Amino acid sequence: MSSLKKIKIIKPDDWHVHLRDKRILKKVLRYTEMFYQRAIIMPNLNKPIINCKQAIAYKNRILQATKLNHTQFEPLMTCYLTRETSLKELKYGFLKKIFIGAKLYPNQCTTNSTTGINKISEIFHILELMQKIKMPLLIHAEENNIAIDIYDREAKFIETTLIPLRKQFPELKIVLEHITTKEAVSYVEENNSAYLAGTITPHHLMLNRNNMFIHGIQPNLYCLPILKRKIHQNALRKVISNGSTNFFLGSDSAPHLYKNKINLFGCAGIFNAPSSLLCYVTIFEEMKALKYFESFCSKNGPNFYNLPINQSTITLIKKPCKIVKKIDLGQDFILPFLSGEILKWSIL
Ligand code: NCD
Ligand code: ZN
Repeated sequence: MSSLKKIKIIKPDDWHVHLRDKRILKKVLRYTEMFYQRAIIMPNLNKPIINCKQAIAYKNRILQATKLNHTQFEPLMTCYLTRETSLKELKYGFLKKIFIGAKLYPNQCTTNSTTGINKISEIFHILELMQKIKMPLLIHAEENNIAIDIYDREAKFIETTLIPLRKQFPELKIVLEHITTKEAVSYVEENNSAYLAGTITPHHLMLNRNNMFIHGIQPNLYCLPILKRKIHQNALRKVISNGSTNFFLGSDSAPHLYKNKINLFGCAGIFNAPSSLLCYVTIFEEMKALKYFESFCSKNGPNFYNLPINQSTITLIKKPCKIVKKIDLGQDFILPFLSGEILKWSIL
C-alpha cells in the first residue's frame, strides 16, 4: 500500500496557451494534452489568426498534431482583433463556435503584436457587437505607451483604459489575461462580476522580478507582463488561496527557440507546459489551499465561458518529477521553464 499523497480532480483546462505552428506545434502540444482537456489557443502567430478560415485551418493543424498522441484534446480558437476586423466575420465565427472569444493586443505590447490596437476607440464598434452577442474579450492588459514604466503598465491600463471601457460596455465579458499585480487582483475581486475574470500563470505565482537577476541575468524568465515585485506575487498567491471564483488557470505557456531567447532583443515568453499543472498544485499546497485547487483548474473557467465542466479526471501524486531538460528541434531547441529541476508532484 502506498502512503503517497494523491489528489484526483476533474481534468483541467488551460485558458491561455501559445502552441505556435508547424514543427514547434508538433513538439509542444503533447505537454498541454497530457494535463489539459481543452485550451484556449492564442492567435498571435507570425501571421495572426484574424478570420474564420484561418482559425479553422489552424485548429485542424492542431487536431492533426493531436492524432499523433491519440488524445481527445479540444483546442478553443480565438480571433486576433485589429481595427479592420469584420463584424460579420466575428459574429459568424462566434455563433458558429469557431471562436470562443477575441483577443485584444495593444499595439507592440508583446510577441507578434505589430498589428494590435493603437487606440481602444478604434474598435468600439467591435466591442459593441461583442457585448451584444456575449462574445468574451480576452485582454493583454498593459498600456503600450513606452513613456510608462514597464512595471506600471498593467495598473495603468486598468485605470486609464479598462475602467472607462467597462463603464461604456458594462455587460461585455472580459478576461484580464495573465494578471501580475495587486491592482489587477483587487480590481477583479472587488468588482466580483459575472462579466469579469482573470487568468493567472504559474510563473507569476512562483517568481518575482528578483528571480530574473539571480546569478546573472536570466533571459529564460523574461516574459510579458514582466515579473513584478514580491508584494504583487503575494497578492496573486493570496487570491487563489481564498477560493475566489473570478480567477482561473491560464498558463501563458509561450515557447520560443532558445536562440531567439538568448539573444540581443530576446523574445518574451516562458514555455511552461511540461510543468504548469505541477507548479500550480505545489503552490496551492504551500498556501494550504488545496481545497480550492480543483475549482481554479477545472470549474471557474468553464463557468465563466458557459462551457460544460469536463467529465474525465486526472490524479496527481506527491512523488518527485523531473522536468524535461530541453525540447529538441533538430539544430534548435526550446528550454522549458524549470528545465531539469525536480518538482514535488507528478501526474499518475
Ligand atoms: C507571449 C508570446 O510569446 O506569444 N509572450 C509572453 O511573454 N507572455 C505573448 C503574451 O502572452 O504576451
Ligand atoms: Zn500569452
